[in-house]
Amino acid sequence: MSTVKFLSGENVPLEMHKVRMVQRVNLLPVEERARCMEEAGCNTFLLKNRDVFLDMLTDSGVNAMSENQYAAMMQADDSYAGSETFYRLEKVLHDIFGMKYFLPGHQGRACENIIAKTMVTPGSVALMNFHFTTTKSHITLAGGSVEEIIGDEGLKIQSAEPFKGDIDIDKLHEAINRLGKDNISFVRIEAGTNLVGGQPVSMKNMREVSQICRDAGIKLVFDASLLADNLYFIKVREAEFKDVALEDIALELGTLFDIVYFSARKLGSARGGGILTSSDELYFKMRELVPLFEGFLTYGGMSVREMEAMAVGLRETMDIDVISQTPIFVEAMCNEVIAQGVPVVTPPGGLGCHLDATEFCSHVPQVQYRAGALAAAMYIASGVRGMERGTLSEQRNADGSERLAEMELLRLAMPKRVFTLSQVKYTADRISWLFANRHLIGGLEFVEEPSVLRFFFGRLKPVGNWFQQLIQQFRNDFGDSL
Ligand code: F0G
Repeated sequence: MSTVKFLSGENVPLEMHKVRMVQRVNLLPVEERARCMEEAGCNTFLLKNRDVFLDMLTDSGVNAMSENQYAAMMQADDSYAGSETFYRLEKVLHDIFGMKYFLPGHQGRACENIIAKTMVTPGSVALMNFHFTTTKSHITLAGGSVEEIIGDEGLKIQSAEPFKGDIDIDKLHEAINRLGKDNISFVRIEAGTNLVGGQPVSMKNMREVSQICRDAGIKLVFDASLLADNLYFIKVREAEFKDVALEDIALELGTLFDIVYFSARKLGSARGGGILTSSDELYFKMRELVPLFEGFLTYGGMSVREMEAMAVGLRETMDIDVISQTPIFVEAMCNEVIAQGVPVVTPPGGLGCHLDATEFCSHVPQVQYRAGALAAAMYIASGVRGMERGTLSEQRNADGSERLAEMELLRLAMPKRVFTLSQVKYTADRISWLFANRHLIGGLEFVEEPSVLRFFFGRLKPVGNWFQQLIQQFRNDFGDSL
């Protein structure tokens, strides 16, 4: 994607691809959207895709693939052991990161399982800029715990800091001194830090953390799932890299970490995952677990067709016009709504536009799931499906009380090259309408609350009849428009 100047002086994001295969989508009338939302227990995970207009739930496994990715799927070598596909993928990863070994896994969390089982001992602490849900679960399952050492700016909704995902170096030193190196399982850096709004980490910070870990004898792990966005931000926000090739940035990253792992549902725009290391010791330990949990070493639970698509997708990640599309669209959407006073996470990051439900729905009590209510309202207002990232996604405390989230966000993910600019503008328009009518949004309460992962399967209902009021206002303002 490029941003070009129009005659009017306006800078407009311009797609550097053309669409050659399409999927029909439906935009149901607002009354039907409200009915679908109720039927889905006010939980966007339980909506049927056929009732969704723009699916911004996630970018995971739903990025658009290129013609070359589809073509590559046809040459997949379907053999249990020694598949040619594996060696092609291994070579691509070696070329990109320069690391010695590659272990395949069926998706990102499978890699986390293997890493946690290999490196986490009971009572140990994993330090990281910020956790991801599955990462934390695997570390906890292995008897360890997670401590977050992100810079203070990272937790502020609005900030001018270009690299909000950076680790706070003072907090890192303090934690190493307090815990002692033997009690730290590893330090983990997550590129494009997901749960704080897709915020990048600078190369400067990664270099510093790497040096500190090496000096202290602590292993450093890189979650590269959101690396595509992060690479783009290193190039455009970190002056030193303005003229450095993406290939060289990735190669340098490979020298900083003991382990690099990724979800290929995100990185490489296919479906799968993998772990890279140059350490003989770590490789041999992790290798034992792959056939046990994933599959033989040359497929690791993945379809060879996906592996071929991944190999091509990974190479395409080294093309700035490919990886810039998501961050530029996220910025475009954020800027449109910011102009209407809508509170969003700033600066705009990768992954998606993150609405700040704490401010957007300040009148809704936090125990009535502000961000979940906003997700339901957004679907009713637009047919757009987002993902709650707040208290609903937390687990209750042991005494049954609510664990209130630090941030209440509605994430509207921007899968790569899936949506058009008019769809982005439509979404921004409906967000702005909803913001102007935010007083109509009410809370939610549980009808069925699972004890684990309640955000996936839980069913809720609106407190009061605010769905009806939202429909009424929509009809007043938009007439019979969809
Ligand atoms: N790490 C990060 C940073 C992720 O964002 C994800 C998944 C994973 C690991 C796990 O990978 O899904 O392939 O097992 N994120 C998805 C999301 C689910 O919607 O943000 P996975």
